[in-house]
Amino acid sequence: LDNGIARTPPMGWNSWNHFQCNINETMIKQTADALISTGLARLGYKYVNLDDCWAEGQRDQNGKLRGKKTTFPSGIKALADYVHSKGLKLGIYGDAGKRTCSDRMPGSLGHEEEDAKTFAEWGIDYIKYDNCFNEGTKNRPRYETMSRALKKAGRPILFSLCEWGQEDPATWAGDYGHIWRTTGDINDTFPSITSIADSNNVWAKYAGPGRWNDPDMLEVGNGGMSYEEYKSHFSIWALMKAPLLIGCDVASASKETLSILGNIEVIAVNQDPLGVQGRKIRFKGGLEIWAGPLSRGRVVVVLWNRSHSRKPISFGWREIGLHPLRPCLVRDLWKHKFVAFRRRFRMTAVVGPHACKMYVLIPVR
Ligand code: GLA
Repeated sequence: LDNGIARTPPMGWNSWNHFQCNINETMIKQTADALISTGLARLGYKYVNLDDCWAEGQRDQNGKLRGKKTTFPSGIKALADYVHSKGLKLGIYGDAGKRTCSDRMPGSLGHEEEDAKTFAEWGIDYIKYDNCFNEGTKNRPRYETMSRALKKAGRPILFSLCEWGQEDPATWAGDYGHIWRTTGDINDTFPSITSIADSNNVWAKYAGPGRWNDPDMLEVGNGGMSYEEYKSHFSIWALMKAPLLIGCDVASASKETLSILGNIEVIAVNQDPLGVQGRKIRFKGGLEIWAGPLSRGRVVVVLWNRSHSRKPISFGWREIGLHPLRPCLVRDLWKHKFVAFRRRFRMTAVVGPHACKMYVLIPVR
């Protein structure tokens, strides 16, 4: 949506992947504090997003949504004030059906205008809008209704459409919102990230400033994958211009986890102003080359080894969109070093199992 929001993919944190329904105002505040104390907020992670289960099971007598008394006793407005006082933004979660996916709180179907107004009054900056309990009706009109309601509510709110890629949202969701899920839910395993990456890749041409494909939130730091697998996950999500929504417990994140999520050079690829989604260029036997253009004529390349053994992967300038004889500097974004290579206009790297190399090629002269 072209209204000045999400000109680059949104960055922040969301409660679902790590905490599911076990959320409360204390831990949300602690997460906001941790985003600041770890330095992640300074790197761009500014949205603090509640997912499912933040509200009472039923609306109040006036038909309004309200924070769950036992877990959000101070109310959502107070939470927004707290998050804003830290220089961060608050996101919330709703549903384009009768109930949310947990079935623990009401959805907004038939209440779009009043709920959008409530969110705006509370100072909400972001809404993830899910698609459960929709009684089998078409998705697009229900998302359109909420988009209109948000516009009418008058507060700039990032609109995240979560209909899991059911009606090819890439082809229409950009008219109504800023990001749209292209797949079902991610989980913390290598097969999940490879299959989601492949599905999301298909829609690359629809992405751009204000409109992004969403391959779901990050699992980095949740414990189900190795360090190298998490680096691959983060590298490919960054290259695909995915929203970078941290899905682990930031307050207890390890140094290793923070070094992945805090890789400033990888983040810069994701936040590059050109806003072109990188794609899979070539693959064979689990050895893959992903690449995409960046601003100032640069090109990002990820060499991804999905196989079970260490293997060399090679690529030439031409296939990643560079002039075949163009001299380039090559920056390794995980080593934070410029790489020397013997033969020009072509490069080979040995990549470990499930690992990747990530480079930016910078044309010179
Ligand atoms: C759906 C969404 C998830 C999460 C859960 C919450 O499955 O796709 O991202 O929001 O609902 O119940």
